[in-house]
Amino acid sequence: MDGKIIPHRIFDLLSPIYDLLIRGEPPTDLIPLLDLTGDEVILEIGAGTGRIIQSLSHLCSDLFLLDPSPAMLAKARVKIPCANHYLGYAESLPWQKAFFDRVFAIDSLHHWNNQVKGLIEVYRVLKNQGSFILIEFDPNTRFGHYIRSMERLLRMGSKFYSPREIRKILSVTGLTVSKQYYIDGATYVTVARKAFG
Ligand SMILES: C[S@@+](CC[C@H](N)C(=O)[O-])C[C@H]1O[C@@H](n2cnc3c(N)ncnc32)[C@H](O)[C@@H]1O
Repeated sequence: MDGKIIPHRIFDLLSPIYDLLIRGEPPTDLIPLLDLTGDEVILEIGAGTGRIIQSLSHLCSDLFLLDPSPAMLAKARVKIPCANHYLGYAESLPWQKAFFDRVFAIDSLHHWNNQVKGLIEVYRVLKNQGSFILIEFDPNTRFGHYIRSMERLLRMGSKFYSPREIRKILSVTGLTVSKQYYIDGATYVTVARKAFG
């Protein structure tokens, strides 16, 4: 054992107060950027309580939420009852190849056990021309550094990447970055596309 605490166990404990603790609205410029017609099949990996993705709940018959924490997912079930809820991990997605038009990972990638494995899974389940929308903290910013230090103290085993490192990892997995920008002093959005496969 390396002393790492299994992250989703912490989220099970945090779930009753998570939405009070973690504030933040969906980034307003994100929705137009997604170019949604209403016919897309959408997945959020590490959806937690559904805090952010609930702004897409009008598309809920084709909205899939995956999280390894039963307690977080139970909250999402109440908040977005008509979505499809799955208990599971990014590293082993329970869908066939080319199933989704959009895949989100909002504040979750740094918790995955194996980021490259998870991103290869994202590539696999995305349709050709589908998009992956990643929202993460930059550990080189003041607030990102603070979050990383807090999660280290909690021994959560989180692994944070700068925008440049993310571009590099995504290129290895076959996803091509089309946009990358900050939405505040520490949080950045990366939009990447699957061009072949
Ligand atoms: C900080 S929360 C973010 C929840 C939600 N996306 C939001 O923005 O409020 C991170 C979530 O990632 C989940 N998670 C942890 N390890 C994971 C893994 N290997 N695969 C997918 N999700 C994971 C946790 O259970 C937790 O619900």
